[in-house]
Amino acid sequence: MYVARIADLRPGQAGLLDEHEAWRLARLQPGQDRDRFLLAAALLRAAAGLQAGIAPAAVAVDRSCDECGKPHGRPRLPGSGLAAAISHSGDLAAVALTAAGPVGVDVEAISAGPDHALLDLVCTAAERAFVSTGSDFFSYWTRKEAVLKATGQGLRLPMTELTVAPPGRPAALVTFGGGQPPPCQLADLTVGAGYAAAAAVLTDLPVTFSTLDGGPMLRRL
Ligand SMILES: CC(C)(COP(=O)(O)OP(=O)(O)OC[C@H]1O[C@@H](n2cnc3c(N)ncnc32)[C@H](O)[C@@H]1OP(=O)(O)O)[C@@H](O)C(=O)NCCC(=O)NCCS
Repeated sequence: MYVARIADLRPGQAGLLDEHEAWRLARLQPGQDRDRFLLAAALLRAAAGLQAGIAPAAVAVDRSCDECGKPHGRPRLPGSGLAAAISHSGDLAAVALTAAGPVGVDVEAISAGPDHALLDLVCTAAERAFVSTGSDFFSYWTRKEAVLKATGQGLRLPMTELTVAPPGRPAALVTFGGGQPPPCQLADLTVGAGYAAAAAVLTDLPVTFSTLDGGPMLRRL
């Protein structure tokens, strides 16, 4: 997984975006949402270009939504053999790339403990017993959202429909939608103080997860 910060943004990075991304960027208000979107789009091309041995500008990205076809869905890298996932929160963007199987990633800035309504949206009754801090809560959140991005369902499947190992125990998908969970390698990742992060790959083979600083390559663009 590659991570970059808003401080790594450079003016030339906007020139990497394709027409669909430029259209989305133009509709975002100046501020952190806009910066994070641009940062993640540039990081995706820089990281995928590095893996494929081609220039970032030559990386093709398809963001067609599985539901409606609009360019706001999971990113795909046609012809690369790589699966990709994006997440952004606070001043961070994260991009996961792998040839091992469908991938999902989630990063979240950790805030104080959640209110009850949010806790009920994310955790089952049994899981709620393990939440006493914001860090516990965002451990559940990121583990579950990483899995839901890997399956491509996103939040169309309520987070309470899957269960994961509790905070402090090795990350693992335990139950999924009442049926057999898909084969899934799940891991917590360290991206910086004040953030929780997790990545999931849908495969029964072992996966080595690593976090790389994408800042230097982005600042050169
Ligand atoms: C995917 C989702 C969980 C991300 O939520 P979030 O925590 O606000 O945002 P994150 O920063 O962690 O992730 C955003 C990224 O998820 C990716 N993404 C969007 N839909 C996705 C999906 N179905 N599966 C996997 N990844 C998806 C995009 O790359 C997006 O990045 P972008 O905004 O730069 O394009 C949420 O947006 C969602 O559930 N979307 C799908 C809902 C849907 O399909 N609705 C039908 C629309 S027609």
